[in-house]
Amino acid sequence: MSETHSVEPQQFTVDELELRDIDFLLEIIGSWIPDENMDKLEELEEIRMRMEGSMHNNGYTYLVARNTNGIAIGVMGIRKPEDKMIEFATPDANSAELVNAFRSQHADSKGVGRALLDSIKKRAKDLGFTEIILNSGPRYEITGWGFYKKTIGEPITIAYGYYGVGHHAPVWKITL
Ligand SMILES: CC(C)(COP(=O)(O)OP(=O)(O)OC[C@H]1O[C@@H](n2cnc3c(N)ncnc32)[C@H](O)[C@@H]1OP(=O)(O)O)[C@@H](O)C(=O)NCCC(=O)NCCS
Repeated sequence: MSETHSVEPQQFTVDELELRDIDFLLEIIGSWIPDENMDKLEELEEIRMRMEGSMHNNGYTYLVARNTNGIAIGVMGIRKPEDKMIEFATPDANSAELVNAFRSQHADSKGVGRALLDSIKKRAKDLGFTEIILNSGPRYEITGWGFYKKTIGEPITIAYGYYGVGHHAPVWKITL
């Protein structure tokens, strides 16, 4: 079900991922990954597979923000937490992990990230999840950590070395 968000100066919608969105989204995601990252192409290819697979019940659910021209300008996904994240889940909770949260650097609209987060929370609840956990690596310290602090609050802990020696990731939890 499509939700329209009338945040000035432009409108956008949040809706299911469709095949036509994927190339736009990979371009957006690629724009945030530094070129010197040796695994950038593999990482983007893996995300393409996840996104395509989500249309065939691979366990991922993606929501997409689109501008008034129908072009994808942002995305967020959820899945069952990967093994390394399970220690941060509440025992007996049905936890989802937030993944692939990105907004176009050229999006005119404000509030795209918050709208995607609100929508994915609703979707997760509808799917029977009782909480969302997420981590955000040092690559996103400037862009992601402030966003999550603003929209969720303080992290529940720091996952030391989650992305390799010295590469820590704060962890957030949202109870649904
Ligand atoms: C993180 C991201 C998705 C946020 O999307 P966004 O569209 O900029 O977020 P919003 O405009 O909805 O911001 C929501 C609130 O958070 C605040 N906020 C956003 N980014 C912030 C930051 N880096 N530091 C402090 N506050 C921030 C906004 O000011 C806004 O506050 P308000 O509601 O009081 O006005 C986007 O910045 C992005 O794609 N970043 C690059 C990739 C990334 O870091 N992803 C996270 C990976 S784990």
